Amino acid sequence: MGSIAARWLIALACVSATLAQPSPKVQERITAAIKAAQASNSTDIDYTAFVNPFIGTDAYFYGDVCPGASVPFGMVKFTTDFTGYAPAGYIADPTQKVRGISPLHDSGTGSSLGTYGNFEVMPLLCPDGFDTCTTTLLARERYRKNNTDDAYPGYFALTLDNDIKIEATSTRRAGLERFTFPKGSKPYFVLDLANDLPASFAGGEMNIDPEKGRITISGHWGSSFGPLMYHYQAFACYDLLNNGKQKLSEYGVWTGDTYGLDAKGLGQTHLNLSQNLIGNVPYQSGALFSYDGHPEEVTLRVGVSFVSTDQACANAEEEVGTTSFDDIVNASKALWNEKLSKVEIDVAGTPEDVTEMLYSSLYRASLTPNNATLETQGPFANTTSFYFDSLYCSWDTFRTYYPLMTLHSPVEFAQIVDNYIDGWRKLGWMPECRANNLPGWTQGGSSGDNIVAQFAVNYHNEAQALGVDLNELYAAMITDGEVNPPEWNTMGRQVNVYKQYGYVPFAVLDTASTGRQTREGSRTLEYAFEDFAIRQVAQVLGKSDDIEKYTNRSYFYRNVWNPTVVSDGFKGFMQKRYSNGTFFYTDPAHCSPKDSNQTRECSLQVDNTNGFYESSSWEYSWYAPHDTAHLIDLMGGNKTFLKRLDHFFDAGYYLSGNEPSFQTPIGYHYANQPARSVDRVRDVVLSNFNTSVAGLPGNDDQAAMATLLTFHLLGLYPVPSSTHYLIVSPFVPKYTIHNSYLNASTTVTVKNYDPKSVAYPIPKGVAAYVKSVSINGKPAASRCYVDFYDTFRVGGEIEIELTADKNEANSCGGPVPESLSTGGFAQAR
Ligand SMILES: *[C@@H]1O[C@H](CO)[C@@H](O)[C@H](O)[C@H]1NC(C)=O
Ligand SMILES: *[C@@H]1O[C@H](CO)[C@@H](O)[C@H](O)[C@H]1NC(C)=O
Ligand SMILES: *[C@@H]1O[C@H](CO)[C@@H](O)[C@H](O)[C@H]1NC(C)=O
Ligand SMILES: *[C@@H]1O[C@H](CO)[C@@H](O)[C@H](O)[C@H]1NC(C)=O
Ligand SMILES: *[C@@H]1O[C@H](CO)[C@@H](O)[C@H](O)[C@H]1NC(C)=O
Ligand SMILES: *[C@@H]1O[C@H](CO)[C@@H](O)[C@H](O)[C@H]1NC(C)=O
Ligand SMILES: *[C@@H]1O[C@H](CO)[C@@H](O)[C@H](O)[C@H]1NC(C)=O
Ligand SMILES: *[C@@H]1O[C@H](CO)[C@@H](O)[C@H](O)[C@H]1NC(C)=O
Ligand SMILES: *[C@@H]1O[C@H](CO)[C@@H](O)[C@H](O)[C@H]1NC(C)=O
Ligand SMILES: *[C@@H]1O[C@H](CO)[C@@H](O)[C@H](O)[C@H]1NC(C)=O
Ligand SMILES: *[C@@H]1O[C@H](CO)[C@@H](O)[C@H](O)[C@H]1NC(C)=O
Ligand SMILES: *[C@@H]1O[C@H](CO)[C@@H](O)[C@H](O)[C@H]1NC(C)=O
Repeated sequence: MGSIAARWLIALACVSATLAQPSPKVQERITAAIKAAQASNSTDIDYTAFVNPFIGTDAYFYGDVCPGASVPFGMVKFTTDFTGYAPAGYIADPTQKVRGISPLHDSGTGSSLGTYGNFEVMPLLCPDGFDTCTTTLLARERYRKNNTDDAYPGYFALTLDNDIKIEATSTRRAGLERFTFPKGSKPYFVLDLANDLPASFAGGEMNIDPEKGRITISGHWGSSFGPLMYHYQAFACYDLLNNGKQKLSEYGVWTGDTYGLDAKGLGQTHLNLSQNLIGNVPYQSGALFSYDGHPEEVTLRVGVSFVSTDQACANAEEEVGTTSFDDIVNASKALWNEKLSKVEIDVAGTPEDVTEMLYSSLYRASLTPNNATLETQGPFANTTSFYFDSLYCSWDTFRTYYPLMTLHSPVEFAQIVDNYIDGWRKLGWMPECRANNLPGWTQGGSSGDNIVAQFAVNYHNEAQALGVDLNELYAAMITDGEVNPPEWNTMGRQVNVYKQYGYVPFAVLDTASTGRQTREGSRTLEYAFEDFAIRQVAQVLGKSDDIEKYTNRSYFYRNVWNPTVVSDGFKGFMQKRYSNGTFFYTDPAHCSPKDSNQTRECSLQVDNTNGFYESSSWEYSWYAPHDTAHLIDLMGGNKTFLKRLDHFFDAGYYLSGNEPSFQTPIGYHYANQPARSVDRVRDVVLSNFNTSVAGLPGNDDQAAMATLLTFHLLGLYPVPSSTHYLIVSPFVPKYTIHNSYLNASTTVTVKNYDPKSVAYPIPKGVAAYVKSVSINGKPAASRCYVDFYDTFRVGGEIEIELTADKNEANSCGGPVPESLSTGGFAQAR
């Protein structure tokens, strides 16, 4: 899932000039907490107080982040669902209306229809009684009161324009919804059986047990980013009586549509609906109930499951039971503090907005994927492996998300790797874009290879203890690399023709497999980097034949380089190619931000003829992270490479919110001019990221963007599927990364740090460029990169000394970051 599915809609994004959500109190509270931490200089810090869950929740383009109540990796993320474009349910845009609150969501995915949103409940005032309640989606939607939305880790709240306040807090698979009604009113609730955000209901049941005060729901729904023919099952259990403190009044069922159907059955307790085979009009149906005694406050306990209604009820019993709302909030905050405190910074010395951006990013870096362990279905039913939903998509997350997890969370990483391998066990190939428990569309092939390789190269010594069998991991990678699935739209790669021709040819006769015939240029580039991942693990396991084989294949990126294509005076671009070797010419600017053609398709569409996925040739032509030295040669040497890099940014080809561009700002390192990367990253961060609802330059993509920003703020950038981290220039004076599994804490101290350097351009005379790097008292071999094995794995002290003298700092003072063809990555660590 990418960030720029509809790049020309950028102009439409700024719908609300006066943003009225969230409540200004959210920012005031965060600022006050940061100031208090700065003043107290205490080490006992509540990091959740620095998190702004609303960053990236603005209209359309700025993140699609879910600000809902969740525990780390929670399967439940409670938030309100809105009209308009709101894939994560919530949208800050005050011109959109609330339809209810629901427990299942994803974060950061740009699926046009939205994802999940099932089991939605909406509080109602029905002054004229049961039969007059506005149950249908259209009739019940309402504005919220401006400046009322609130959230912090573990808590979400919003107030409707009729003064009903909605709050929620959660555990992994359950939670509490608390509603405060205006004094003297009778609380009504409408609860959906059929509705979800993509309107994909494929049949289900609802049962009301008035004695128990319990409503159970089961059903099947469709994918938000995959074949519509597949369905997943989901279950919910609503307990209505708040442990006997609340008394039901009326209850019943309803069915409705937008064309006159608005029927209610008072006292009825059962609905059993099959899929409506005509049309795609949402099938609307559910429960309606009210309370006696005009209670001002009503609490609903909600459990969800992907296994059964019994399990949904059991989850609510076990995880919530009779625990109070406030205690659940506290428990959730404690879980979040455990995650957030893995990275500690010198809060006193750090600019406030940097602290807020960093901890908000770290928050989202543990918000997804959704931990659905023991909640498996279909081919994964009863698996003994860990299971995560919403790997949405691996093409997004392999670049920065897992390399960040590498630094501090090997246990969690191992669980997710186990889950990738289990995907191969159960379906034949590792998952690429699991969405809603179903296989979603592949983007660049099998990017899961780069995720499991990242784990293997950095944790092979601990793999067994962490429950990962490296031989199995390798077998899964080899399957991705060698076995062509009959249908490669949802998993695996079209390796038959790739192996035969040395690239994915355009318009090729493939008699053995099917898939969307597009993206031949970018698929070749990604396949080659996936082969590098296999090569890296082959090296760890000492499989010498495979090392050579996959090293060779990782050079296949060269086969789509057309040295004759010229754009803006620069020569040589990646281009798609026919099987007879002839290149298909595409203007390298097509599908770049400079492309003014509003109708050109750039994503998975079959008429994406430029050959690159959500990207231009200008953008993807930088993509050989394992072999940049050779790319420099192809481009005509260091001087031209540097000139071309500057032009890429200055002319406007760069897309900060797009994954293939993530590493490009640090490209200067490879031509031995690291100081220029420092300037570029300052510019990238300060002109694209901030603490507002519009503070992300694209979809968060399951925290791909959050983890990119985290690396930039820490002055690091990972080379995926390797043990290397490039050194840039931290935005903070000091930070410590705790790796509790390895018992390693690593403190990075930035000598000569000046908060005035957090600006672009960097003011003259202000230290910002890396003069030296030392690791535990010894000078590092290069000031451009470090190895995980020498640093964060062992712990200790890293000192990065900065200087204002850019020239002095504008070389690596040792080796440039490694490239395969110049002898790099020669040995496994
Ligand atoms: C905070 O405490 C550290 C030592 O714990 C000290 O070095 C530093 O100067 C203190 N900072 C402030 C602002 O008091
Ligand atoms: C909230 O603010 C928007 C934009 O200023 C305005 O159009 C809308 O009427 C306000 N909503 C309410 C419920 O006051
Ligand atoms: C619900 O309907 C389906 C057919 O659509 C049927 O197979 C199933 O038995 C019904 N369930 C109940 C509890 O009536
Ligand atoms: C929640 O935690 C805070 C701070 O740790 C504490 O002051 C408060 O009493 C706790 N609330 C509950 C309901 O336990
Ligand atoms: C999973 O286990 C349940 C309960 O033991 C059983 O009913 C079901 O058939 C099993 N499913 C699979 C796919 O093995
Ligand atoms: C996922 O849930 C399982 C079951 O509760 C738990 O053992 C595991 O630690 C969780 N993993 C993460 C990353 O939260
Ligand atoms: C790898 O490429 C080299 C150079 O082209 C060639 O000599 C060698 O045979 C290749 N090895 C394999 C295993 O394909
Ligand atoms: C290769 O195939 C393409 C498409 O059929 C054709 O346009 C081109 O002329 C062919 N090139 C050669 C060298 O035959
Ligand atoms: C825009 O792109 C489409 C699809 O590639 C193409 O058919 C159309 O001719 C282009 N329009 C212009 C004005 O170039
Ligand atoms: C580019 O610069 C690097 C680092 O200084 C050097 O190793 C390499 O030989 C240069 N490449 C060319 C083609 O000059
Ligand atoms: C945050 O960034 C967005 C997008 O670049 C921009 O529109 C907005 O004005 C910025 N807000 C602040 C407070 O800087
Ligand atoms: C970390 O420390 C704990 C407790 O001292 C010990 O049990 C564990 O083996 C250590 N882990 C590593 C990887 O050294």
